[in-house]
Amino acid sequence: MDEAGNRQKAKGNREESRLGRTGLEARGAGLGAPSPHPAALPPASGPPPVTAPEVLASKGKRRLVMVTATDEPSGRLADAAGVDLVLVGDSLAMTALGRPDTLSVTMDEMVHHTRAVAAGVRRALLVADMPFGSYQAAVADAVRNACRLVAEGGAQAVKLEGARGEEIAAIARAGVPVVAHLGLTPQSFHRFGGYRVQARAVREALELVAQGEALQEAGAFLLVLEAIPAAVAELATRRLAIPTIGIGAGAACDGQVLVWADLLGLSVGPAPRFVRRYAELGRIARDAVAAFAEDVRNGSYPAETECYPASPGLALELEKRLRRA
Ligand code: KIV
Repeated sequence: MDEAGNRQKAKGNREESRLGRTGLEARGAGLGAPSPHPAALPPASGPPPVTAPEVLASKGKRRLVMVTATDEPSGRLADAAGVDLVLVGDSLAMTALGRPDTLSVTMDEMVHHTRAVAAGVRRALLVADMPFGSYQAAVADAVRNACRLVAEGGAQAVKLEGARGEEIAAIARAGVPVVAHLGLTPQSFHRFGGYRVQARAVREALELVAQGEALQEAGAFLLVLEAIPAAVAELATRRLAIPTIGIGAGAACDGQVLVWADLLGLSVGPAPRFVRRYAELGRIARDAVAAFAEDVRNGSYPAETECYPASPGLALELEKRLRRA
């Protein structure tokens, strides 16, 4: 089989395993041991796929690692690095689409990016963000759009922002695991008057903890806490039975998430204080492209070893025939 054929076959295997995982989770949570179709079995080698019930059960046992991804390469690399959860966050509006905020990203765009990430993720639990406008107007919209992210995008869970107990309960009833998100919820930044740390005052902090409890009651299996004082996140984490994932919420959360572009030095502009850059890929990429440009301009690219050789005498023969014509 040629290279393209092999790639197609590998992709087919991944698709099969992904569809199988989704089916397993839908039937597996709380229903005892399912007897899966052979195609639903996890890959024979390597650690087993992460499931929503397993994430829920990890509370107090191990710290969860989540990272965002926007396309197949970022999904594949995050998965290969061994993260527990990959989030197709609506922050891709800024990091992949060059928009000023998350508000304009559409359901179609989220489905498109989720599908690309799904092609690269084999083991991590794939969570997709519900974009602004996809769940705020009606509970039925929330369920329909959550199902689209699963059925069309290949997501295994969805995340939505704010104290949306009704929507979370309805989506969970439809069989889709739901991640809640409280604190600085970027889709509401106009209401907050900017990207401001939330729950600083006693009343707001108590309200956030109460909202977390209500969302847990509604059926969320995980809670993202963004940009709140560490002490508030610690209190919420202690009081909740579901794990918390912090981003700018201190070390006491059950896990942490960072945005791919922030973690790898691909984002532009000043980073929030919680961002730790583990690489400067932006600089590396720019320098690599500049080196390529230089080599093209000075004629050192491509070298002979980077060209396809012709059979002996071909050039001479071509010249001869062209002269005759
Ligand atoms: O969209 C996103 O990247 C997120 C994370 C910040 C949690 O929601």
